[in-house]
Amino acid sequence: MFTPSKKTIEEGDRVVVYFNRDRMSLVHIKSGQTFNSKFGNFHHKRLIGCDYGSKVASEDGTGFMHILRLTPELWSLTLDHRTQILFNLDISAVIFNLEVRNGSKVVESGTGSGSLSTSFARTIAPLGHLYTFEFHGERAKHAQKDFADNGIDKYITVTHRDVCKLGFQLPEETDMIGHIDAVFLDLPSPWEAIDHAIAVMREGGMLCSFSPCIEQVQAVCLKLDQSDFEEIKTIEVLMRNYDVRVQEDEELFLNNPYKTFESKQQQLQQQGDDNKSQVRKRKKWESGTVESFEVGCIQGEMNNKLMMKPQTMERGHTGYLTFARWMPKI
Ligand SMILES: C[S@@+](CC[C@H](N)C(=O)[O-])C[C@H]1O[C@@H](n2cnc3c(N)ncnc32)[C@H](O)[C@@H]1O
Repeated sequence: MFTPSKKTIEEGDRVVVYFNRDRMSLVHIKSGQTFNSKFGNFHHKRLIGCDYGSKVASEDGTGFMHILRLTPELWSLTLDHRTQILFNLDISAVIFNLEVRNGSKVVESGTGSGSLSTSFARTIAPLGHLYTFEFHGERAKHAQKDFADNGIDKYITVTHRDVCKLGFQLPEETDMIGHIDAVFLDLPSPWEAIDHAIAVMREGGMLCSFSPCIEQVQAVCLKLDQSDFEEIKTIEVLMRNYDVRVQEDEELFLNNPYKTFESKQQQLQQQGDDNKSQVRKRKKWESGTVESFEVGCIQGEMNNKLMMKPQTMERGHTGYLTFARWMPKI
């Protein structure tokens, strides 16, 4: 996953096949296998040796797809959901506000489906480390396997544990206590894990709690306030997408059609256009065309305009992100 310099697809690679924004899948390349889709069938053998980013036709030539290199962003869009997951918009806000960077030591719970863990791993690599905790045994195992398959397991330690009862300390990790730069909690009762977080955090380290309900946010904020945390803030991140497309737009010159007609004719003649037909075309800007036309004596223009409109279906509330900095009083 962290080899952007790799140009071509090889046996064993995990790739993302992309049909459109809403249709993409994770594919493990194995030469004997075929990827079947409503856009056609694709033999893996034919994908091996293609450049990442290539457009590949289906076996019968009727469909096509693009093959993309797996990134943490595409992983979050294509992974096998075993739990609710954090999506890229919240993930970017978490990583930015937690001040996580290469070399950071981060604690996370629960691991869930490993969506956030994978972005954490890319950000802290190669010098930092992620300690992630999950109390559901199968989920912990599955996440460990995914991290190994994606080649990021050397940056992540997965521990199967109830952190509200047992906390985050790992006896074998001697430089963990007092050195954790950031803690992220995605738990039903995060306030129960805050004392455990303090036990491993460095002074000035950041904590974030993700909760879907405002009652959970209130309980977390109260606990943070009683526990020497400063700069407490809660945010909700919402995305607004816009569709951009070319739209035809008719404009009639109703104010003074005759005058407009004359001035239009003069303008066209000045441009050296000797075509006397009533429908004329000329290029406008780089993108669209303008067609002149006449309805009775009234002149008009048909414009191609670039229009933007918000998409009707917006992804709504996912959760509240509460951030705070641990500043213990001496
Ligand atoms: C919503 S999921 C986390 C999703 C994850 N943030 C992601 O992006 O994929 C919450 C996880 O926390 C785990 N969990 C709940 N309580 C826990 C506890 N006390 N200790 C450890 N893990 C816990 C659950 O099993 C679940 O897998």
